[in-house]
Amino acid sequence: MRVGVLGSGIVAQGLSARLAELGHNVVIGTRDADKLRGWQSSNQRVLIGSFAETAAHGEMVINATNGAASLSALSMAGEENLADKILVDVSNPLDFSDGFPPSLSVFGKDSLAEQIQRAFPMAKVVKTLNTVTARVMTHPLEVADGDHHVFISANDADAKSQVTDLLKSFGWIHIFDLGDLSTARGTEAYLLLWVRLYGAMNTGMINVKIMK
Ligand SMILES: NC(=O)c1ccc[n+]([C@@H]2O[C@H](COP(=O)([O-])OP(=O)(O)OC[C@H]3O[C@@H](n4cnc5c(N)ncnc54)[C@H](OP(=O)(O)O)[C@@H]3O)[C@@H](O)[C@H]2O)c1
Repeated sequence: MRVGVLGSGIVAQGLSARLAELGHNVVIGTRDADKLRGWQSSNQRVLIGSFAETAAHGEMVINATNGAASLSALSMAGEENLADKILVDVSNPLDFSDGFPPSLSVFGKDSLAEQIQRAFPMAKVVKTLNTVTARVMTHPLEVADGDHHVFISANDADAKSQVTDLLKSFGWIHIFDLGDLSTARGTEAYLLLWVRLYGAMNTGMINVKIMK
């Protein structure tokens, strides 16, 4: 599959490398290609593009940009390049304006995922992976042999199904379908707990398992 990964940070790099390793045709997108040259030298199967080139390349597009800038980055990617495509949103609306721990810039009756869906109504937004650190996103078996959950939220059932298959290809065993995109309000707000768990456990290689 042709995948466009918007972002140049640790999440975009990790997702791009894993997708390429799995045989996908990946372009990673940034406003500044130079910042990815060093990384690309050891990930030569991944090409670098602008946000627009990256979104145009993808049959599936992943938003791995800073949550505070995601709407702006996606505008640069271009509405026409996102139309009728699955847009996997792994971003979080973290607000570091008062330092650490962060608060949320969107919460309660709205979420960043829903803001993105409203701004790009032709895209099929699927929220997932935002509740785990970058390494766990792509290598879930490295925590408790994969015995923990990732959540998925989307309005489009087929898009959710395709992203579920992608998650399985990363190694995810337990994929919790929360329902429509409004359920991303919960997974985004979970970051308030995640940062505290991170602080208490001194590692990001953690996750939760849902028990009944
Ligand atoms: N780090 C993690 O382990 C983790 C885990 C779960 C979820 N997330 C979420 O995943 C996303 C990516 O996280 P990250 O740590 O890899 O990177 P990040 O530092 O949060 O974001 C870097 C990306 O944001 C873009 N960006 C920043 N300001 C921008 C602006 N004003 N306009 C357009 N684009 C802008 C950058 O574009 P350029 O490339 O052009 O500079 C870059 O691609 C975030 O939303 C984060 O909350 C992160």
